[in-house]
Amino acid sequence: MTDNRAIGVFDSGIGGLTVLREIWNAVPGESTVYFGDNSRAPYGTKSRSTVIRYSLQNMRFLESKDVKMIVVACNTASAYAYEALKAGAKVPVVEVVTPGADKACRTTGNGKIGIIATKATISTGVYKDAVERRAGELGMKNIEIFQQACPLFVSLAEEGWWDTEVTRLTAEEYLKPLKDAGVDTLVMACTHYPLLSKVIGEVMGEKVTLVNTGEATASVVKELLGSEGIASGENGNGPVREFYTSDEPELFEKVAAPFLGEGLPSGTRHFTTDRYEVTV
Ligand code: DGL
Repeated sequence: MTDNRAIGVFDSGIGGLTVLREIWNAVPGESTVYFGDNSRAPYGTKSRSTVIRYSLQNMRFLESKDVKMIVVACNTASAYAYEALKAGAKVPVVEVVTPGADKACRTTGNGKIGIIATKATISTGVYKDAVERRAGELGMKNIEIFQQACPLFVSLAEEGWWDTEVTRLTAEEYLKPLKDAGVDTLVMACTHYPLLSKVIGEVMGEKVTLVNTGEATASVVKELLGSEGIASGENGNGPVREFYTSDEPELFEKVAAPFLGEGLPSGTRHFTTDRYEVTV
């Protein structure tokens, strides 16, 4: 069985493009529709009910594009809204928390796992719960989890300051407690953080493995396409990659370029999802 419909991906803005890039790498033949809610970003400082409402609206938009699967690229939206999305979805929904937690458990040697994310994601405790649950399933004992919100990392990544002195100093300040705790695995539980991975890796030291949740999520997408029998088949024209933003398309494309590397978006269209009425 094959299904040539696109995979829908949404994020609060451009950070989810780091997840999209991993999906393109894992399943290059699949068409994708990306929605960046730039006009309402950031989500990482918003309340639970607001993030749930925005996420349900974004899902409604992607469903209107007849997608076969929805990927919640945003960690904050995954942490706050996954249950609500799953309950209302017509197609499979993939979030980024469980894949990241699974990868962290499989990576750690000393059982000390660090999690860095937005304030909102950390405050939910969802990642901590997911790591503990996965560790339990894998029969792992003595897991210790250390969490740290790193809100400034989002601005630094969007500013393009991926490898600057300011970023290094900020990283040293944020990551000190995790280094002191002796974590050997660090989950980058925010869409933007993989862009800062050079500095984060250098500050943490070479013995610490960084987990990119986007990469782990892309593997889950690939598996699910197979197990659900919805992978795309022979597609004469090749995959179609569409982009929508709730802010100015020109601005989106300008800021998005460094996030995507190659495969730059063009022909991005404007759409606002606040027109959808949803119940939270
Ligand atoms: N996409 C968000 C996340 O992964 C980071 C940016 C934001 O706060 O909206 O948590």
